Amino acid sequence: MSIRRARAAVVAALLATTLAAMTLAPAGASTGTAAGGCRAGAPGVGDPYYPLYGNGGYDVQHYLLKIAYNPATDRLVGVATITARATHNLCRFNLDFQGMTVRSVKVNGKAARWRRSADHELTVTPQRRLKEGRRFTTVVRYDGVPRTFVDPSAPDVPYGWIHTDDGSVVVSEPEGSANWFPLNDHPTDKAAFTFVVTVPAGLEAISNGRLVGRRTHGRHTTWVWHAPDPMAPYLATATIGQFRLRTYRTPDGLRMYDAVDPDLYDRPVDPQDPASPTYGEIADRSLARQAEIMDFLAGIFGPYPFSSGGGVVDDAEDLTFALEVQTRSIYPYFDFADPISGDSVVVHEIAHQWYGNDVALAAWKHMWLNEGFATYAQWLWSGREGLGTPQELFETYYNEIPADDPFWDVVIGDPGIPNLFHGAVYTRGAMTLQVLRNQVGDRKFFRILRAWAKRKSGGNGTTAQFVRLAERISGQQLDELFDAWLFTPAKPTYGAPAAATAVTAATGGARSAAGSGSAGRRRASPPPAPPAAR
Ligand code: TRP
Ligand code: ZN
Repeated sequence: MSIRRARAAVVAALLATTLAAMTLAPAGASTGTAAGGCRAGAPGVGDPYYPLYGNGGYDVQHYLLKIAYNPATDRLVGVATITARATHNLCRFNLDFQGMTVRSVKVNGKAARWRRSADHELTVTPQRRLKEGRRFTTVVRYDGVPRTFVDPSAPDVPYGWIHTDDGSVVVSEPEGSANWFPLNDHPTDKAAFTFVVTVPAGLEAISNGRLVGRRTHGRHTTWVWHAPDPMAPYLATATIGQFRLRTYRTPDGLRMYDAVDPDLYDRPVDPQDPASPTYGEIADRSLARQAEIMDFLAGIFGPYPFSSGGGVVDDAEDLTFALEVQTRSIYPYFDFADPISGDSVVVHEIAHQWYGNDVALAAWKHMWLNEGFATYAQWLWSGREGLGTPQELFETYYNEIPADDPFWDVVIGDPGIPNLFHGAVYTRGAMTLQVLRNQVGDRKFFRILRAWAKRKSGGNGTTAQFVRLAERISGQQLDELFDAWLFTPAKPTYGAPAAATAVTAATGGARSAAGSGSAGRRRASPPPAPPAAR
């Protein structure tokens, strides 16, 4: 080994240990040497799945994202203005940012020093330290081709900034956002957003919230969207392309924005049968039911939490899942192959506006609080549409998935990164809620769901907090039930909270919400596939 290589190795080793130390440091802990009564913000919030995502030492209030995008070259030019409050005296702090080229960073109007590392950290050292409790503004100028992200949570599923034939579709859960703007990338740091997106004239640019301006200047159009409701930053979008945009209000006065790719009206769901309905028509029909769906869910979960709504459907082949983008869910076209599945996925994504978005995760391992709840909402909708009650759906899955199926190996209360979006997180998550419902009874069950939405509104939740709430409201001890359903890699005995591992005949335990045994009872067959189980 040459001296230079040896030195490089030592430096690399030192860097690795430093990074490891940083990773282990609790949020907000000192990770640099104290200097003049300030310290560095932590490079991560210590999420066990993604330790270096999010950052310590500050709290973002607002992102102003000015973006120009040219679909012909895939190039993006961005200016991100981030308004934050220091939570301790900061000599420097980190943002999460990956790829593209940083041109400059300013803090409070003055040029700042900055440095990037391979693991998406952008470290910013302002000229003057930032005082605890004070607001400060960071402006990052950058450009380049945003990278479509692939990570171990879904190795076959590209996400983040997805390039399409006519623009982009931007779906960043869990860790795609840092590939298109610099940010504090963790759901515990919610903020308001303003998007100023410039695209070639003739294209639409769709983001979250309310459209507050649209101006064509020469060959370009600038779209301005404002999203005032606190938002986990992975839920931000700048989806660009040709869209048929419809702006309207629900009967309750909520502003709605629906955007459907016009190509989908030329695409029959059955390519052999040109007379079959098109994806565009089926999407329109399901989107036309959004107000009805919001009403239905609001009647169960409590008031719709945000100040606008709507949905986007793109024909992009690389878009392989729907995402509950805040106030503007995004759907792949194949979700609208038939009206029943179309409606069901719209229910799923709208349910996430309560569970997932308004009540966000405190850490990624609590994912079942998002996906189990949104799936349960589909089950409730199925019941109301006469397509099978939640209890029937529960029984179908329970009876049809044998105990030796790997489905039961996923510990959905802490599934691990590779299983973050496993079908079990969805289906076993919904089954857990049905078991809880049978255990505590309808009145208390729905009180628990509503109380969870209300108390955690605008904030973040953990599984332990949900269990405590359920125990408080029901007056029952529920840890065995939740242990069996969330934390045991085995098929639980039917409905029973028993620690018993033997799977008994599926008879006792759960009470059928439907009143069982009636001959005319509709079977839920086949069960709707969980949205991400592809
Ligand atoms: N949360 C999405 C849903 O509504 C699914 C999802 C988001 C996903 N990101 C993903 C699935 C990445 C697979 C890979 O269900
Ligand atoms: Zn979901």
